[in-house]
Amino acid sequence: MTRDHMTLDQFLQDLDRDIRAKGDWGEVADYIPELGRIDPAQFGMAIALADGQVLTAGQAGHRFSIQSVSKVFALACVLGRIGEQLWRRVGREPSGDRFDSILLLEQEKGRPRNPFINAGALVVTDELLTGRSPRQALAEILAFVRAAAEDDDIHIDKAVARSEARTGHRNTALVHYLRSFGNLKAPPDHVLGTYIHQCAIEMNCVQLARAGRVIAGLDCAPALLSPVKQRRINAMMMTCGQYDGSGNFAFRVGMPAKSGVGGGLLVIAPGKASIAIWSPGLDGWGNSRMGTLAAERLAEFTGWSVF
Ligand code: DON
Repeated sequence: MTRDHMTLDQFLQDLDRDIRAKGDWGEVADYIPELGRIDPAQFGMAIALADGQVLTAGQAGHRFSIQSVSKVFALACVLGRIGEQLWRRVGREPSGDRFDSILLLEQEKGRPRNPFINAGALVVTDELLTGRSPRQALAEILAFVRAAAEDDDIHIDKAVARSEARTGHRNTALVHYLRSFGNLKAPPDHVLGTYIHQCAIEMNCVQLARAGRVIAGLDCAPALLSPVKQRRINAMMMTCGQYDGSGNFAFRVGMPAKSGVGGGLLVIAPGKASIAIWSPGLDGWGNSRMGTLAAERLAEFTGWSVF
């Protein structure tokens, strides 16, 4: 380890201790029963650096359900496949509404505001299903994530997928609503099933931080995304990655990031680092409460805010 790495590593160990002492964990997402059983008082973090080193703290090796963080990888796959044409079907503005809101969809004639709210992510998954079966589309997302992390031991947690399938009435409504506007090509149940399984990908912080290297454009990252696509994805993460909490996150942290209701958070310091944080207790926006605090502390310590 270099001297800089040692300082950052010490910061991480202190942060882990502080977060656990604070104990203000938030609530787990119980609308997916399998996630509702998880103890919110957990924390892990991993930082993948440009030279290939990965620094860790707390439960960095504990696997969790990446949920909406998967939307970043699905977007990366679709941009790789059809590029800019995607924006005919989905916008790129923050919605200011909850991640599962249906409100704007009627007003805006079935074109979701952005690819990270559920309605937009369902359109992205639908695009991925063009000419592919649900199994093939899932294999494509998994292959991308495994190649990005350079780790084949990344899988789908079928119990989480089953659990969401039983209770996912809002997403069921959204796929059918999108279909009624002609903005869904595949059968609604195929889109829903693929999306739910994509959200149920399980990773630990080390794997997620390593996968995020391709979005951060780190020197050590496999060449999977062009610089233009990296910029596009980072812009979406900065403006829409935490839904109606995106402004607050940009204010406090100042780095592109994507959250998931499993408590995962992927934070990008372009060219410098890819950071994965996991703490399953959520704030009122559905984003990890302690994860956001950890990202804020990291930004203060490193000066990695892009502003
Ligand atoms: O569609 C859902 O409701 C979940 N599978 C994912 C939502 C999610 O992770 C929102 N993020 N904070």
